[in-house]
Amino acid sequence: MRLDRMLSECGVASRSETSKAARAGKITVNGAVARKPDLSVDPERDEVVYCGTPVRYRKFVYLMLNKPDGYISATEDGRGDPVVTDLLDLEYRKMGVFPCGRLDKHTLGLMLLTNDGVLSHRLLAPKSHVAKSYAFKVRFPLSERDVEELCAGVDIGGYVTKPCTVDLRAEQEGVITIVEGKYHQIKLMMEAVHNKITYLERITFGPLTLDEALARGAWRELTTEEIRMLQG
Ligand code: URA
Repeated sequence: MRLDRMLSECGVASRSETSKAARAGKITVNGAVARKPDLSVDPERDEVVYCGTPVRYRKFVYLMLNKPDGYISATEDGRGDPVVTDLLDLEYRKMGVFPCGRLDKHTLGLMLLTNDGVLSHRLLAPKSHVAKSYAFKVRFPLSERDVEELCAGVDIGGYVTKPCTVDLRAEQEGVITIVEGKYHQIKLMMEAVHNKITYLERITFGPLTLDEALARGAWRELTTEEIRMLQG
């Protein structure tokens, strides 16, 4: 692979920045100064140092973010609202990381961000039935009948939701687990039983569980084991 491609894929430098740095003698490959951006390198084996910093090559990255209130699940927003990728280091944004799926602006909690389009597509495909759990609070007490209806499936604007589980922790709060991801699904499900969501936080996504050590707005790379579980 070309040196400039390697550095741009892992978010270290654009092609023009690599050109400039190479001409200035600021890149070394296995200890030797590399003056040509089109130098052929083996990204897995060669030791590339860019402006004094060793480069760790990886094509794909996988991040767990604890989404705070008010952020849009996108890489940019036309209306000027903050987006979840604003919370990441520039290196990841340069690598083309995007949110895998959406949470509403006021929903909190677990978001997966990656630049692995194939995995993201697979996890979001309706036929994958990836389970997602949300801690919720509602304005009015939920009756047993409401819970039964929610679990069996309710009509949300012409679509009947698939069976799900609801674990009530108190009259007005609990954990709901769904295996699909329609737009505003949980809000609409609660509206279908004449209630209203007042708090919504995603706590699991497939095999991932929100890391309690992550403060709102904080993120970390997934562990090798978490990536392996996601890839199934
Ligand atoms: N369901 C909702 O209503 N909102 C979310 O953000 C996620 C699921």
